[in-house]
Amino acid sequence: VTVYVPRDSAARSVGADQVAERIAEAAGPRAQVVRNGSRGMLWLEPLVEVATPAGRVAYGPVTPDDVEDLLAAGLLDGASHRLCLGPTEEIAWLRDQRRVTFTRVGVIDPVSPDDYIAHGGLAGLRRALSLTPEQVVAEVTDSGLRGRGGAGFPAGIKWKTVLGAASELKFVCCNADEGDSGTFADRMLMEGDPFALIEGMTIAAWAVGASEGYIYVRSEYPDAVATLRAAIDTAYAKGWLGKRVLDHDFTFNLFVRVGGGAYICGEETSMLESLEGKRGMVRAKPPIPALEGLFGKPTVVNNVLTLGSVPMILADGAQAFAELGVGRSRGTQVFQLGGNVARGGIVETAFGITLGELVEGYGGGTRSGRPVRAVQVGGPLGAYLPTSRFDLPMDYEAFAAANAMVGHGGVVVFDDTVDMAGQARFAMEFCAAESCGKCTPCRVGAVRGVEVIDRIVAGENRGGNLKLLNDLCHLMTEGSLCAMGGLTPMPVRSALTHFPGDFGATTEEQR
Ligand code: NAI
Ligand code: SF4
Repeated sequence: VTVYVPRDSAARSVGADQVAERIAEAAGPRAQVVRNGSRGMLWLEPLVEVATPAGRVAYGPVTPDDVEDLLAAGLLDGASHRLCLGPTEEIAWLRDQRRVTFTRVGVIDPVSPDDYIAHGGLAGLRRALSLTPEQVVAEVTDSGLRGRGGAGFPAGIKWKTVLGAASELKFVCCNADEGDSGTFADRMLMEGDPFALIEGMTIAAWAVGASEGYIYVRSEYPDAVATLRAAIDTAYAKGWLGKRVLDHDFTFNLFVRVGGGAYICGEETSMLESLEGKRGMVRAKPPIPALEGLFGKPTVVNNVLTLGSVPMILADGAQAFAELGVGRSRGTQVFQLGGNVARGGIVETAFGITLGELVEGYGGGTRSGRPVRAVQVGGPLGAYLPTSRFDLPMDYEAFAAANAMVGHGGVVVFDDTVDMAGQARFAMEFCAAESCGKCTPCRVGAVRGVEVIDRIVAGENRGGNLKLLNDLCHLMTEGSLCAMGGLTPMPVRSALTHFPGDFGATTEEQR
């Protein structure tokens, strides 16, 4: 009987390794334990699944001490038990999602090439190699896929720029420096379905004429690094990478590089500097990396989720992807629910779902059981939104119109004990700590920002200091070289706008 116990680091952090060991020991040859990725229902980890003739049955959260009892109750037959959650696919949280990028995550053994192919793997690459690069770029453009790293730039247009750039040497770089607080989808894809990223990068390389690729992974993700390296070795052995990819006249070599722990190395030009062996400092744009990127050569820089979505787009066709979503936000987004939330994890669904449906529906409100007060969307540089904005659809443009951003899809929930002035101060503090130091508005502005927020909260010259903070936010937004300094004012301003009382505003001012 096949028993699945996730190898995902979120599951491992709550004891999945010990659970897997206990099952293997206690069940002996009756059970074959497969270490799958996580289904993304993190509050149920370690989630154990058993393959039965009627499909997989889930149990969770399972502790090592539950194992004996579970086996005695008939775990291997999918028997009922207090931890039994029924057929995995019928768990409402999972059933109601639309998994495209995460279609195989949690389902397959991440490092098994046979499992990968049995679940639709390589269909996208095979189709891409039967098309011309121009046709592949057109397919990605038609799908409406936009950069999932946060900025939402159309992937097809970026690829077209690289394809059109004349150069003997071009690169595809995957930004896996997932530094935003509350985001973990890149990690879960790399740990749960690494071949999807490898396939997506290979398709990108074919489409733009690149021969080398790099995956830049943050050092905080050792499991993802190990999984990717194992998958890349397998891909070479199978002829999916290297000389004559899938027996076509096309060479693509792929490498993993590990970052050193700086948030700013998630900014694409900083990442390129770091890949070149230099200190992670932001480069001025233009030139854009698509024209002068790694070692000055035309380079595709895309996020893990962007590249990981490409195989499905090529396999199922642009139309299938473009049919999902709203407005100019096409396809699905892999939202990540975290913070003070009852049911945290991965919610992949078409764009257009409202913030409230995500937080109250999927998330089930706060973990503390207290009322939700604020939600930060899009990482530490994203806006804080009050529950009165739960009507907002998850859509790049709708969020921008509300002075907020969807970003990388991280949704962090806070209950009514949160101090929003403290959160605004934290944004400035974070910027001061993580600034690369290249430009003054960010390097100096963030330090001044902390000081001025402290003075406002202390009630010193409120009017003057509020004006000063507003000026400073304006300067940082308009004058910073990159999004680090440029977006730090977003959480600050949103906290001031939506939660003025926390900054010591009088009732009169709040009106
Ligand atoms: P950007 O808007 O400057 O650029 C977006 C992308 O489009 C870049 O790759 C850029 O090179 C490319 N591009 C722009 N014009 C182009 C053209 N004409 N042809 C081809 N390519 C072109 O945004 P940026 O600074 O790259 O990213 C900012 C975003 O990063 C923020 O909105 C934030 O959401 C996100 N972010 C994500 C983090 C994470 O951990 N995932 C961390 C911090 C920020
Ligand atoms: Fe560096 Fe900050 Fe300027 Fe970006 S905004 S270039 S992180 S100093």
